[in-house]
Amino acid sequence: MASNSFFLLHVLVMFSLASMALSDSLSPSFYNHVCPEALPAIKRVVEDAVRKERRMGASLLRLHFHDCFVNGCDASILLDKTATIDSEKTAIPNNNSIRGFDVIDKIKSEVDKCCGRSIVSCADIVAVAARDSVVALGGPTWEVPLGRRDSTTASRTKANNDIPPPTLDLPALINSFKKQGLNEKDLVALSGGHTLGFAQCSTFRNRIYNDTNIDSTFASQRKANCPRSGGNTNLAPLDPTPALFDSKYFSNLVSKKGLLHSDQALFNGGQTDNLVKKYSTNLGSFSKDFAESMIKMGNIKPLTGNQGQIRVNCRKVNV
Ligand code: HEM
Ligand SMILES: *[C@@H]1O[C@H](CO)[C@@H](O)[C@H](O)[C@H]1NC(C)=O
Ligand SMILES: *[C@@H]1O[C@H](CO)[C@@H](O)[C@H](O)[C@H]1NC(C)=O
Repeated sequence: MASNSFFLLHVLVMFSLASMALSDSLSPSFYNHVCPEALPAIKRVVEDAVRKERRMGASLLRLHFHDCFVNGCDASILLDKTATIDSEKTAIPNNNSIRGFDVIDKIKSEVDKCCGRSIVSCADIVAVAARDSVVALGGPTWEVPLGRRDSTTASRTKANNDIPPPTLDLPALINSFKKQGLNEKDLVALSGGHTLGFAQCSTFRNRIYNDTNIDSTFASQRKANCPRSGGNTNLAPLDPTPALFDSKYFSNLVSKKGLLHSDQALFNGGQTDNLVKKYSTNLGSFSKDFAESMIKMGNIKPLTGNQGQIRVNCRKVNV
């Protein structure tokens, strides 16, 4: 009798330990046994897409950021609008700006084909595609913790509130990242994502015409393709080498050539100046810190265990 209940207790403890392991944390080896082909398949499709268009690597990196900052890394950003889904795709930071949905669809169908069934989540695909994009453009690699599940909801309101706009100054940027459990070092390192990709005139017009902490030659150059009115969607590179992961984003900030107001805010006499300076001459430490902060960002509020679902179509909740 006593040994029976001890046995029962033991079983209960084992069960709760097992379910904690399932539901608590992500692990890089999550798909190793169930589908070892999954990660190589993601890498192939990302490399193909980046070969066709270098900018796609930047766009896939940003997709992960905009997913994670809205209710955690749960692929909510991929859901299309329906009667019950309040799609994030038309939120202000995303509308006519966020890209890469077709590549994610292609990855999902390749991965499901390779695995013979739908077992890899869209949220994990977005996280791995971001890593593979950085690597494809010459950046550092890291092991992506896996086991995220996909949301059954989305929130345009949260996307509008929680994704930082480029008009923010340093204290507001720090606060926006702090709400996600990210510190000032994460803010600076992750902003280094702007070593890749482009921005539209509407996002930096105010900076080049009105900011005073800007190199005047740089401002004139940018004005040539971003008039005071019109040309809203004209593109400018976020740093001088938008298809290469390097430290030029930071050396540019030191020369007051940040493209976005929020970029230059990181080097404007505040407490992040020293870290910007360090990264500007030390690609190794930027790369190391970027990889660490990407893992931290990727761990924001994941759905795990039996929460959420593994979507069959990344754009839709399973019926
Ligand atoms: C710190 C706050 C941030 C602000 C205010 C911000 C703002 C912006 C804006 C306004 C654009 C241009 C969008 C457009 O014109 O369509 C952009 C592009 C981009 N952002 Fe950020 N961003 C931030 C942080 C990040 C982070 C943390 C990452 C990734 C780690 C990231 C990666 C990118 C990339 C790669 C692009 C270029 C995308 C492309 O060319 O398609 N950003 N960001
Ligand atoms: C998103 O952009 C489209 C133009 O492509 C525009 O018609 C629509 O009003 C925008 N949506 C929102 C919510 O701002
Ligand atoms: C610059 O600032 C002034 C005054 O705040 C404002 O009226 C104007 O629209 C701004 N110009 C641009 C291009 O944003």
